[in-house]
Amino acid sequence: MQVRRPDFDFSKVERYYYGDNVWATHIMNALHVLVPIGEVFFIRAVRKSLDDAPAEQKVELKKFIGQESVHDQMHRQFWARLREQGLPVDSFARFFTATAIETMEPLVEKLIGKKMLLSATVGFEHYTAALADTAFQPGSQLLPKMQKEVAEMMGWHAAEEIEHKSVAFNMLKAIDGNYALRAAGMVLGSTLLSVYTAIGTAWFMAGDKELTLARLVKDLLTLPQISGDLLPALVQHNLEYFTPGFDPDHKNNYHLAESKLKELGMALAS
Ligand SMILES: [Fe+2]
Ligand SMILES: [Fe+2]
Repeated sequence: MQVRRPDFDFSKVERYYYGDNVWATHIMNALHVLVPIGEVFFIRAVRKSLDDAPAEQKVELKKFIGQESVHDQMHRQFWARLREQGLPVDSFARFFTATAIETMEPLVEKLIGKKMLLSATVGFEHYTAALADTAFQPGSQLLPKMQKEVAEMMGWHAAEEIEHKSVAFNMLKAIDGNYALRAAGMVLGSTLLSVYTAIGTAWFMAGDKELTLARLVKDLLTLPQISGDLLPALVQHNLEYFTPGFDPDHKNNYHLAESKLKELGMALAS
């Protein structure tokens, strides 16, 4: 695992860059906002518990923080293109920050404690690793359907999500291996992710001045050509997470990350 600093040019990214499909594009746009703000939350959650983590985990935890921090910067760089397209990226980011980060995060910490913030982080990290694993399966259209610049950024991000998939998990396990704590973090994470992705998708659609009802209906019918078996795969990954003895390293998919990094001409793990 290492911190890479790639450079992407998003200036030619088209309005419907994801398979020319408004649903896929606006779901992805919602994630372009939720993911970086969420990643800064992961960094905060890990830092808050850093003193409680075993010394031997600290090098990996710092690399985890480094990778998430570059992911945050790259997604925010993408926001500039969405602004140019007149899309409501800033208002959705303000809404998510005000409700989830400024309201819910302090409330959860006060009522349950910082371990729940870490547990939710572990839950979210399972989703990012599961999405990456699904996108890297042979035949998946999740990355090929994206415009090249976006596919490269998401491919790099997904590869690093697999590289660091067990870092936050191992930290939580060392601090408190309680099953109920881990499961509760996933329930909280899944609920927030689904609710905010739905709100964000609707938010981008409502703010898209070029969108018509006819286009919305037409593209909904072709959405499965892009999403493929994403939902069943996520359900499967989610069920695995709730198995009492679950450990992300029981599934060795690090080679998938390595192949993608090779394909992108990026440095392999050191
Ligand atoms: Fe990330
Ligand atoms: Fe991550």
